[in-house]
Amino acid sequence: MSEIGMSEIGLSENGRRARHGSNIGQPLTRRDGVLKVTGAATYAADNHPDGMLYAVVATATIARGRVVSLNEAAARAHPGVVEVMTAANRPALASDPDEKSNPFMFRLDLLQNDRVRYPTQPIAVVIAQTLEAASEGAMLLEPRYEAEPARTGLDGAEVFTPPSVGVGNPAFAETGDVEAGFAEADHRIEATYETPAQYHNAMEPHSVVASWDGDQLSLDMPSQGLAIAQGRLAGLFGIAPEKIHIRSPFLGGGFGSKGVPAGPQVLGILAARMTGRPVKLVLRREQMFGPVGHRAPTRQRIRIGVSGDGALRSIENHTRTTSSTFDDFFEPAADVAHTLYAAPSIRTSYEAVRLDTGTPLFMRAPGEATGSIALESAIDEAAEAAGLDPLAFRLRNYAEVEPISGKPFSSKALRECYRQGAERFGWSRRPLAPRAMRDEQGLLVGWGMGTATFPALMFQAKARATIRRDGTGLIETGAHDMGQGAWTALAQIGADAIGLSMDEVEFRAGTSDLPDAGIAGGSGHTATAGMALHQAGVAVIAKLGELAARDERSPLFGAGNVGFIAQGGQLVRRDDASRTESFTAILERAGLDKIEAEGQASADGAAQEAYAMHAHGAVFAEVKVDPELGQIRATRLVGAFAAGRVINPKLVQSQLFGGMIWGVSFALHEHAVVDRRSGRVMNADLAEYAIPVNADVPSLETILVHEDDPHVNALGIKGVGEIGITGTGGAVANAVWHATGRRIRRFPITLADLL
Ligand code: MOS
Repeated sequence: MSEIGMSEIGLSENGRRARHGSNIGQPLTRRDGVLKVTGAATYAADNHPDGMLYAVVATATIARGRVVSLNEAAARAHPGVVEVMTAANRPALASDPDEKSNPFMFRLDLLQNDRVRYPTQPIAVVIAQTLEAASEGAMLLEPRYEAEPARTGLDGAEVFTPPSVGVGNPAFAETGDVEAGFAEADHRIEATYETPAQYHNAMEPHSVVASWDGDQLSLDMPSQGLAIAQGRLAGLFGIAPEKIHIRSPFLGGGFGSKGVPAGPQVLGILAARMTGRPVKLVLRREQMFGPVGHRAPTRQRIRIGVSGDGALRSIENHTRTTSSTFDDFFEPAADVAHTLYAAPSIRTSYEAVRLDTGTPLFMRAPGEATGSIALESAIDEAAEAAGLDPLAFRLRNYAEVEPISGKPFSSKALRECYRQGAERFGWSRRPLAPRAMRDEQGLLVGWGMGTATFPALMFQAKARATIRRDGTGLIETGAHDMGQGAWTALAQIGADAIGLSMDEVEFRAGTSDLPDAGIAGGSGHTATAGMALHQAGVAVIAKLGELAARDERSPLFGAGNVGFIAQGGQLVRRDDASRTESFTAILERAGLDKIEAEGQASADGAAQEAYAMHAHGAVFAEVKVDPELGQIRATRLVGAFAAGRVINPKLVQSQLFGGMIWGVSFALHEHAVVDRRSGRVMNADLAEYAIPVNADVPSLETILVHEDDPHVNALGIKGVGEIGITGTGGAVANAVWHATGRRIRRFPITLADLL
């Protein structure tokens, strides 16, 4: 395949309009947009190296037990089948797929034995000349099992306290005395909320096209973290990470499920090693319901104490969640209570059960999505008990410092989000009592709200910036665009850092030979990779400035330490804007074709110690409910968000819309239905795994509330990838209550709940 760099990508008109030095803040259209709508963007599975074979995974239909036999002979007898890989003959690995040395290292099912640990676990791989032959071969295997009873659901299995939740959060936290706070409260809410298992279901299924050349491994594979993938695969195959070249220019969504390599992708690589030929492996949709992660179900027992004047006395969330029988990931649902509301006592705790399921994984706003829909519902119930309007109640309990830690917020424009969102929505016209509004058709109308929050995270990233003699620039980092617009937003940051316009800058991203851009996750990619690009730009400008300042033929000679600003392809003296010289002139005189520098970024430990860093928002929702049929429609959403500096308002709005639609989905649609006897997901396809289609998506509006944050990073960027889900689910659920007077505490809320 051809290497895809941004140089090949046509620039949009608005890219040219952007003024020098001010690309940040422009609502530029995605640079990859035309490629995507014309089909010119290549995804991993679009690649067809010469001599390529097709691999199809055969997956278990039982939840627990062992594979007693496979009709390998029948599969091998198929004329197109080249090889059948099973636990008996798969190539050796350098490390045990069940080894775990850090929380990001998930145990994988790579045909290590005949055990079945969950439905859709891979049990064989059939490799053939064509996709059809591989699929037929997989069907001919007709596995026979020795099955044991499936363990499903939140009840019935042995309960234990997880060692930690999320990625290393404590499973217990308390501030103040929750029991005393609850005991002395005038109003007490004690309610249990349930959220179901959900599956990421990115449009692009997990896939890999793998080629070996000796111990060099070449991969086309969607990845949210190229260096993480290199490291994991290097360990499994016993080769150096640099021997693995991964191309992941475009992802058709990830949502966390592509943050670490999935077992089936590794099986595709093993198939290539076994046959000595390039191999493509793509999961079928139903195979996405098991081996590539999911959002675990939760049952959250929430207790809230409120004094007579509407002040919170205590918040407690005790969450039960699930993991697989063989690995640990625990949905950190309760933790959002640490941040949201000012209560003198807060306690979060967890318990878990192990199920015959694939291992859960981080899925868009892990913890915050599940926790927020429950807590925002409970807060609504508390407001009702206190006789207060839900917005007035939230303002009454506004957290001026982070409640669990007592730290000041690095910035928090939530009050302004409440104000602007409420005004735009028309919240002041909301009757306090439920079931008090109807539309012209007689449908019940309800208005609800929720607070959105997500931490402002930074990881580690590197980048490189180059200025060429012709006055153009090159900025490089191995960043990931899963549809969120990273290739555009990051290029805006990089171009500004070297004082060039978007069309003067080439941006390269999406391959593992570039500087490590860290993970596209935790809503921290723009902040982290963006800061690395910014630092690389600052560094190359400093080098260029040094060249000029030391050269007596330069108008900038002798500028010493005063420093320069890069603007419009020129260096400008900081103390005297009339003294300038072009990049080209400096490089020409120095006899250099180009000058380059590297930059890196990571979280500022001291700032993190001193401040709590979160993005915030307020979401207002309208729903309409048919009083006879119980049919629920979300009709209108207004979300006001404050997330630090906005790099590209068009992309930010798009991210927030996407998140808000996920929130509607959480409240009203998404639900993996697990069969209690077999443990299988019964709606493992996109026809029956309901997510909002266009007709389900309400009118959406976002307001980007101005927020300067001097502490999160030098650019003041927080992140917007996940926050849109939080707050929204609760707002919709609360609107359903307001429409009907019925409080439904198990999600999604369906018409059956209202009949
Ligand atoms: Mo996300 S769940 O951090 O991709």
